Amino acid sequence: MMSLAWPLFRTTEQAALAAWPQIGCGDKNKIDGLAVSAMRQALNQMAIRGRIVIGEGEIDRAPMLWIGEEVGQGAGPHVDIAVDPIEGTRMVAMGQSNALAVMAFAPQGSLLHAPDMYMKKLVVNRQAKGAINLALPLADNLRNVALALGKPLDRLRMVTLDKPRSREAINEATRLGVKVFALPDGDVAASVLTCLQDNQYDVMYTVGGAPEGVISACAVKALGGDMQAELIDFCQAKGESAENRLVAEEERTRCKAMGVEINRVYSLGELVKGKDVIFSATGVTGGDLVSGIQQVTNGVRTQTLLIGGADRTCNIIDSLHSW
Ligand code: FBP
Repeated sequence: MMSLAWPLFRTTEQAALAAWPQIGCGDKNKIDGLAVSAMRQALNQMAIRGRIVIGEGEIDRAPMLWIGEEVGQGAGPHVDIAVDPIEGTRMVAMGQSNALAVMAFAPQGSLLHAPDMYMKKLVVNRQAKGAINLALPLADNLRNVALALGKPLDRLRMVTLDKPRSREAINEATRLGVKVFALPDGDVAASVLTCLQDNQYDVMYTVGGAPEGVISACAVKALGGDMQAELIDFCQAKGESAENRLVAEEERTRCKAMGVEINRVYSLGELVKGKDVIFSATGVTGGDLVSGIQQVTNGVRTQTLLIGGADRTCNIIDSLHSW
């Protein structure tokens, strides 16, 4: 996989550059569309036999980078691709921080096939590997992680998404004295920040998108951290209503077709088999993980985080692009 690191990094750069002129335009579909076409064009120039495993949705719902779509020049290694052309389309549309262009490559057959639905996720860094169990209540996990890290609970830092469905978890954590950082959006960045060497957080716990969960799992695996995840149906995430029950029913059918189960805890080894994965994230709007795109004289500057699982390398690449 490592020989594909350079083309992978160039691809997330291209997607970020395509979205950048539209920061603050208010139209998240337009931003996503620009990034998707830039990524697809870059992927189709690569000497790979790539298949989108985590993508923009199923064939009937996504014009490009749909789950199952084949990309690349049709020669070279077989690669499973997990892609989120813009992680945080809302953030780009509203000019808010922390939006990324993200993609991961893994050997064929190594990524969990997950539909676009909600997923409960728990991530820790490598010092707390083995200390998590999503089948237990959050409070037990926080106590076990604190124990593994040799920290009192009031020094543990948990990051989550600031959504109504997170309220209970935030209350549970703060009752224990845990310090909670609730971000408006972007659980991929939060997961990576939890697993980096100079980690900003000790635990990432949230209910967010399943595609973002599998992409995060690639980075977590490459960094040697730990993660567990559970697919959650629409009613569990958004509440019971006749309309939500219809969505949940549809999700059950899609899960069946993809061979995955709702309300079953998946380990990191099931989310991503092996550790020969590469992950790349380029900043679109500035955040804690990487800087956003900045205008400089006659061009722009981008920053990309490139992580290779085989040798656990972590590169932060600054590029200058002239007009
Ligand atoms: P988008 O790119 O779809 O805006 O995703 C941003 C994000 O915050 C993800 O990081 C997270 O997994 C998901 O949205 C949460 O979903 P929801 O917006 O429905 O709460």
